[in-house]
Amino acid sequence: MADKTLITAALIYANGPVHLGHLVEYIETDIYTRFLKFSGHDAIYCCADDTHGTPIEISALKAGVTPEEFIKIWYDQHVKDFSDFLIHFDSYYTTHSKENENFTRTIFKALKDNGHIYKKTLRQLYCEKCKRFLPDRFVKGTCPKCGAQDQYGDVCEACGSTYKPIDLKSPFCGICRSEPAMKDSEQYFFRLGDFSERLRAWLNDNKNLQSDIKNYVLSWIDKGLEDWCVSRDSPYFGFKIPGEEDKYFYVWLDAPIGYIASTENYCKDHKCSAEGAYWKSKNSQIIHFIGKDIAYFHLIFWPAVLMGSGFKTPDNVVVHGFLTVNGEKMSKSRGTFITAREYLQILDPEFLRYHYASNLTHTTGDIDLSFEDFKNRANNELIGNIANFCYRTLTFIDKYAEGKIGKLGARNADLMALERADDLVRKAEKNYYGFALREAVKNALEISNVGNRYFQENAPWKLAKEDPARMAEVLAIAANLVKKLAITLNPILPVFSEKIFKSLNLKDVKWDDFRETLENHKINKPEILFRKIERVEFSDAFATLDLRVAKVEKVEDHPQAEKLYILTIDLGDEKRTLVAGLKDKYSKSDLKGKHIVVVCNLKKANLKGIESEGMLLAADDGKDVGVLFSKDKPGAHVVIDDVEKRPAKELTIKDFAKFELVAKDGKAYYKDKPLKTSDGEIQVDKKIDGKVK
Ligand code: MSP
Ligand code: ZN
Repeated sequence: MADKTLITAALIYANGPVHLGHLVEYIETDIYTRFLKFSGHDAIYCCADDTHGTPIEISALKAGVTPEEFIKIWYDQHVKDFSDFLIHFDSYYTTHSKENENFTRTIFKALKDNGHIYKKTLRQLYCEKCKRFLPDRFVKGTCPKCGAQDQYGDVCEACGSTYKPIDLKSPFCGICRSEPAMKDSEQYFFRLGDFSERLRAWLNDNKNLQSDIKNYVLSWIDKGLEDWCVSRDSPYFGFKIPGEEDKYFYVWLDAPIGYIASTENYCKDHKCSAEGAYWKSKNSQIIHFIGKDIAYFHLIFWPAVLMGSGFKTPDNVVVHGFLTVNGEKMSKSRGTFITAREYLQILDPEFLRYHYASNLTHTTGDIDLSFEDFKNRANNELIGNIANFCYRTLTFIDKYAEGKIGKLGARNADLMALERADDLVRKAEKNYYGFALREAVKNALEISNVGNRYFQENAPWKLAKEDPARMAEVLAIAANLVKKLAITLNPILPVFSEKIFKSLNLKDVKWDDFRETLENHKINKPEILFRKIERVEFSDAFATLDLRVAKVEKVEDHPQAEKLYILTIDLGDEKRTLVAGLKDKYSKSDLKGKHIVVVCNLKKANLKGIESEGMLLAADDGKDVGVLFSKDKPGAHVVIDDVEKRPAKELTIKDFAKFELVAKDGKAYYKDKPLKTSDGEIQVDKKIDGKVK
């Protein structure tokens, strides 16, 4: 291995919270780095917030703060979230830093001086009203291939085809919805095509890369690499291009350079330089961890930029798959979009680290977080098997052997148990080096099995009376198995492992210490290691509902349907049209003026030619219907206790049907909690008992 290892994880965008999907990567990278350090390597983990680009600039605008203020808020939250998940960075920096600006300028200049940059006029969509060029994700329109409406400027979600924003039919501005114009502007381009051969050689010579990724990237090169536009016009949040009036470096140019800037931030305090020690050094290795969605950037653009400007290319890029929750893509409406903070409010971070490690292989396969598996793994494997063996052994020594590990047993079974464990630790070591975390966890579990079996077969609780000398030997062997187990799991479960080292009265333990046996050694009182998970229930799915009070302003007959009314409602800051099937239960004058409860984020539905923009809630007992109402003002939010509202963008009727809302004694309930506004509980007209729909 190289003298020094620099490890990075992708830089999270500074425009949203850390969620469980991101954590796959930051935890995987943390485990790997901890392992290297624990094994005595000089390794550092550098990362940063990715702070530039149009989405962040626009989010800040919407939030009414400057981009600088905006990215600061997210930075602070990210740092806290990562630290609470026991993710340790040697440098956690920001791409909006002086160092990053300097490196970006230097690299751009080197690319230019070496003839890799040229200027070209580019025709792009421009919104006259917003006064800005519209990047892919900010233009919408009709897919040129399949005709699906309301598609983004880069890819159609209906047919999957990719295209350029200017190819969209009937395009509109994603911000203000007005029709954009074409506008020319001069931009800087990077001659990516010139690097095809060098990239090919780099990929082929690299023995570390995953083979499926390597083949994928080679096939991209075979198809021909298009030159890459690396500048943007204002308004933009980023670094200004020297010598230009109103042009900025494209975020994806300065973002990976942020790896170098973060290394420099580390070096500032460690008497080295990012270039000297890592990015231009022969004695260092650089390992990037990324998700498969950003493979193109890290295996094509980034190495080409480094090659073209005289830096070292990465020695390895470890690509992982995506997180699914209960087998599906994370989704707000299913309540499976879980932030780091929401998780921490109810669960131990080490449970997630253990679950991810148990599922991570050196492949790009997706990783599932099924709540059922997660709970079973924590309760049965981690607590029931691993922690139980450790705790049992330590409390036994504490209670029956005066807190002292005595002489080691030397019977065949004793030696076999130690040998078997050592063999498993060595296997785990190989697995950690090979990014095969799932296998390393299996090795640890196997050590625990060896320990539990040994304990059971030698029954020290019997020996306590019959043969105390033999009991001491057995406990000494068991204690050594505990130590080997805690060493093996240290990179994954640093807190658990430290607690055990403390109980074993050990300091500054290193991986290689697994070979040394503990004998005639006083230990400390054991600590409780984990508490079982009762149930896995994140913020209730109810949070995704957007229920608000609305005043009925107008009631009309639906021209095409006998039983339907058309209601005009006032939500305080907006008016909407609802179609409601209440005609045989309510007269127009009964409804008019009522403050009803409306689901405001339901997908619009066309009911016999009239678009309904939401749905009113009413209780139904099979005979009569009573609408839900409130004394509160139009626009008031309807909530339940302990669930903070986080409405999904849009729910379908099917999503909504899953919520079991009931009416009883004149009130409406969800899971026994009354629906209410800040002014009081929601009431049910006519005191109908039954389902609320
Ligand atoms: N800012 C860019 C990376 C720039 S690196 C120079 C970016 N940011 S991100 O916040 O969208 O993602 C950060 C990392 O988290 C990426 O590697 C991405 O693949 C990973 N993940 C984001 N969502 C994920 C899942 N749902 N599952 C697993 N990893 C995912 O991309
Ligand atoms: Zn616009």
